[in-house]
Amino acid sequence: MKITAISIFPEYFSPLDLSLIGKARNQSLIEFSAINLRDFTHDNHHTVDDTPYGGGAGMVMKPEPWGEAIDSVIAKGSTPIELVILTPAGKKFTQRVAEEMVGSEHLLFACGRYEGIDARVAEYYRSVTNIRVHEISIGDYVLNGGEVAALVMIEAISRLIPGVIGNPESLAEESHNEIGALEYPTFTKPAQWRGLTVPEVLMSGNHGQIAQWRRDEALRRSKLAE
Ligand code: ADE
Repeated sequence: MKITAISIFPEYFSPLDLSLIGKARNQSLIEFSAINLRDFTHDNHHTVDDTPYGGGAGMVMKPEPWGEAIDSVIAKGSTPIELVILTPAGKKFTQRVAEEMVGSEHLLFACGRYEGIDARVAEYYRSVTNIRVHEISIGDYVLNGGEVAALVMIEAISRLIPGVIGNPESLAEESHNEIGALEYPTFTKPAQWRGLTVPEVLMSGNHGQIAQWRRDEALRRSKLAE
């Protein structure tokens, strides 16, 4: 899967060199690149923002550098592109959205800063063939920019690519799976730690009872989290 991020801080994406995603990149399961939006400006100050029409606080990202940066990505390939515009005003990112997006050939993340990207950028690319626009929020809070949100999405989506996670069975048992229950509590050795004991049933070797206990605990946790 191809993943591209456009940002004024491409260095933000250095964690993608690490751990399972770093490994997946080395194995060419993921092809990632970060693009500096300022490379698509033409003034000495590399300006990417301006004051909002209609007034108000803050600055808005100018459409021209975004248009040129996105066009440069489109020009490099012929595969369909999912253009993900990160915004607190977008559709909520969930495990279901991650599952839908893992089938994509190319995810292009547009990481805005300030008060967001001029709204015409999303509107324009909605009418371009081979591009689908998704305006997405990772949660009901406001970040300083879309970079962290893109990292969250990249991690959640990448781990669903076959081969990225060592044991694919672990995906089925996780929280937010199709059944919708949260994952049951997990324990490892030692059986006693600071006066706390691992639940007896998990050490019983009775697989039926263990499965029942895990189902009950998963449901109890899900109710608590509601
Ligand atoms: N940019 C700022 N806040 C955001 C959020 N919650 N989700 C996605 N992008 C954002």
